[in-house]
This record gives sequence, C-alpha cells and structure tokens, in this order.
Amino acid sequence: MQERLSEIQNQAKEDLAKAESLEEVERVKTKYLGRKAGVINEIVKAIPSLPPEQRANSGKSANKLKQEIGTWIEERKSEFNTSAEVSLTLPSLDVSQPGEHKSYGHRHPIVQTIDEIKGIFKKLCFDIEYGPEVEHEYYNFDALNIPADHPSREDFDTFYLGNPPGPIRAGKRLLRSQTSTVQIRVMEKKKPPIRMIAPGKVFRPDTVDARHASMFHQIEGLMVDEGVSFGDLKYVLTLFAQSYFGQDIKMRFRPSFFPFTEPSAEIDISCSICKGKGCSVCSHSGWVEVLGAGMVDPNVFETVGYDAEKYTGFAFGLGVERLTMLKYGIDNIRLFFENDLRFLSQF
Ligand code: DAH
Repeated sequence: MQERLSEIQNQAKEDLAKAESLEEVERVKTKYLGRKAGVINEIVKAIPSLPPEQRANSGKSANKLKQEIGTWIEERKSEFNTSAEVSLTLPSLDVSQPGEHKSYGHRHPIVQTIDEIKGIFKKLCFDIEYGPEVEHEYYNFDALNIPADHPSREDFDTFYLGNPPGPIRAGKRLLRSQTSTVQIRVMEKKKPPIRMIAPGKVFRPDTVDARHASMFHQIEGLMVDEGVSFGDLKYVLTLFAQSYFGQDIKMRFRPSFFPFTEPSAEIDISCSICKGKGCSVCSHSGWVEVLGAGMVDPNVFETVGYDAEKYTGFAFGLGVERLTMLKYGIDNIRLFFENDLRFLSQF
C-alpha cells in the first residue's frame, strides 16, 4: 500500500510539472482528487479490504497524500493566474493614446495684475510690504493727517467694527478704507531710505455698481530719502505706466488735495480703450484717472518721528481693479467677484 502511495505521489508531481495551462492543471486535479474516479478515492475505497492492522495507517497516509497533492495543485494554479492577469493588463496599455486633459486653474486676473505691478516695482528696488485689513482709526486716519471732522471718517464711508472690551487703543477698530495705512506701519518700524509698495484689499460701504464694489484692491507706494523730489515721483510713475500699458501711453498730472500729501496730484492716463479719442469708459474726455499721489506731508513725518527738515518723500495709491479694467477693456467691476468661469478663464 505504502509503495502504491509513493508511486502516486511521484506520478502526480510529474503530471503537475508537465501541465502547461490552467485547464491541464484542472485535468490533473480530476485525475487524482476527482470524487468519482480519482486515483486517491479509488485507494480509499480499497482500504476496507486490507488486513485490519494496515487499515489505520493506510487511511492516514492516503489522506496526507490527498492534502499534499491539493496544495501542489493550488500552487500551480496561482502561477497560471498571475500570468493570466499580466496578459490581460498589458495589451490594454496603449502608449499611442492621446493624454487626458487636466485643468489646473490659474491666478485670478486681479492677482495677475498685482503680481505684474510687483514685478515692475521690484526692478526699481521697491520692497513689497503688507498690513492688516482690520485696522485702527489711528493708522487709517489720524497718522495720515486726516482731521477728526473729515467726511471719509463718517459711518457711510468707512466700515467700523465693534471694539473688543478694555481700553480703546489707537482709536476705533475698522476695515481699512485705503492701503495708505501701510505707509505709517512701515515708517514706524524702519528708518529712511524707504522704497516700498503695499498691495491689498480695502473696504468701503459704497453702493455696488459697474464701477464700485464694497471691497476692492489698492497698491500704495512710498519713497522717502534725502532729496526726493516731485520729479522723482513723475519719473517713477511714468516708468510704471509705460511698463504696464505700453510705451505710447500718455500721462497727465492734475493738482488735487489729499491730507497726507502736499502738494497732491491726481494722475490720468490717455484712455487705453479708445486711445484718447473719447468713449464711454473715459466719459468722452480721452483721459481716465488711475492714481492719487503727492509729496509726503511734513505732519506725517513728524507723527512717525522722521526729521521733516532732512527727509522728503513721495507717495501714491492706485486702484488695481481700475487698472485691470483699462488694460483688458472690462466694463463692469462685478465681473471680478462673481466667480463666473466663462469670464475668468479668459485670462
Ligand atoms: N489713499 C488714497 C485713496 O484711497 C489714494 C492715495 C492718494 C494714496 C494720494 C496716496 C496718495 O499715497 O499720495 O483714495
């Protein structure tokens, strides 16, 4: 009996080694382990006819061999299964197929304008500075020489916030209505020479229409040193306008008034939409106002502790939405904030 079993063992091993496909392994399985005519079953059936002292041992050996053959069969099967999977996945990888288009998004047009302007001023060695959007009255008004009764301080021109409990420091809290606040914050920290621009959001309770929004972006500029003149202001702003709009842009300085600059000017550029001929954007004048600017008022220098006899400086403030609208011929400021991808994806 034991001899017969080891013959079967060797034969099964050989048969399995020869099998070249899953079907052939299945055939070997039926041959040895099949319920009806499997070799092992035939042996088991013959056990009762053995002499009684051999039966128990033969039964055990036959079972052991059955399990052994079962394990070998599963091992061979798994070899064919993996190679079947590989042969299924390989042909489906078509390297000539066109790639899948992925949309990654891009910077908002307002951010693009800010980045472009930052690039222009960096070349002129201006630092980029930032200040808080939640400000104190002191930075938004007092330190900028804006008197207590100035209309821009009224509730309908500035968003005031509730004050935290405790003593009120630096006046009431508010949402800054101009980025000029950053001039003060920088001058408090640094000594001249100063060359900086400060981009950021500002807030005003304006009624929203095609040209006004309650939040928009400004870029403030400041240069302070010994001997800075109005000529430097004109030079820097002309260079800026030509870099941003192109060489043939024309500029016009009109006398104006801002509490923190003396003298002050408002600066127009020739309308980039109609090239100065007159259109609805420039109210048919051929000119559009883009900037406020001037020489820093000595009172501002005194407030931050600079020697107004020694230093002079210029400051300017520009509206980012307005500049973007002029460059691309956009006639409604609301388009920037509605999040409509049909508009935004054009930039
Ligand atoms: N802060 C002014 C505004 O929001 C703009 C401005 C005007 C800034 C003149 C300046 C300046 O620095 O010199 O209307």
